[in-house]
Amino acid sequence: MSEVKFTIDGREITAPAGEKLLWVALKHDIYIPHLCGIQEEQRPGAGCRLCFVEVEGQAHPVTSCTLPVREGMAVKTRTPAVDRLVRSAFELLLSDHRLQCGKCPKNRACALQQIARERGLKLKLNRLKPLQREFPPVDDSTAVFACDRSRCVLCGQCVWADQQVAKVGAIGFSRRGLNRTVSTFTGMELADSPCTKCGLCVEACPVGALYFLDDNWKNLQGGQTPKGKI
Ligand code: SF4
Ligand code: SF4
Ligand code: FES
Repeated sequence: MSEVKFTIDGREITAPAGEKLLWVALKHDIYIPHLCGIQEEQRPGAGCRLCFVEVEGQAHPVTSCTLPVREGMAVKTRTPAVDRLVRSAFELLLSDHRLQCGKCPKNRACALQQIARERGLKLKLNRLKPLQREFPPVDDSTAVFACDRSRCVLCGQCVWADQQVAKVGAIGFSRRGLNRTVSTFTGMELADSPCTKCGLCVEACPVGALYFLDDNWKNLQGGQTPKGKI
């Protein structure tokens, strides 16, 4: 594949033509907020709306997870328009999120906290009111890991890990709009689903929605995916 030269925030970068800007930037230690991006995905859904950048000559910011790099492009990761869009998307996420970092298994290792830190955003709602809705109870039926949907940001990382990496197909998205949720087929508990407890979905979750119930479990597995049930 041919290489192209372009700039990100004035830095000269060389990368394979067509590679998506988000991954090139991250590879060069240039942080762009992101939750739903999956490098291997051919057609990213660009659902989280956090990875905006501005490209010289383009009227509006674009999502970097869908933006192929090309020769001579000049990209800025921080402009007033980008910052406005990122802040709005971030606040929208927080409006449907049970923010209790002190009690969360992902505290200090959470992508939302990283976005807040990197972009100087507050981890609390300023302009929006929290969506008052009932979340389903925590599913800890497997005794290996739990799923707490009150912290889910609907990024789809777990679904990709389950369906495309582990190739199990135990979980997917169900319902639409505000009721959209990660779920097993027909909403059964994880223990009753085809889940093999390989743990790949848990490792893929960037926030505290999927978490191991026993920290030792990951070490015991040595990071390998067991072929069958534990
Ligand atoms: S998922 Fe992240 S932001 Fe949400 S409560 Fe847990 S640590 Fe805090
Ligand atoms: S459970 Fe985690 S990985 Fe899955 S969609 Fe929700 S936040 Fe993303
Ligand atoms: S990472 Fe690009 S829209 Fe989510």
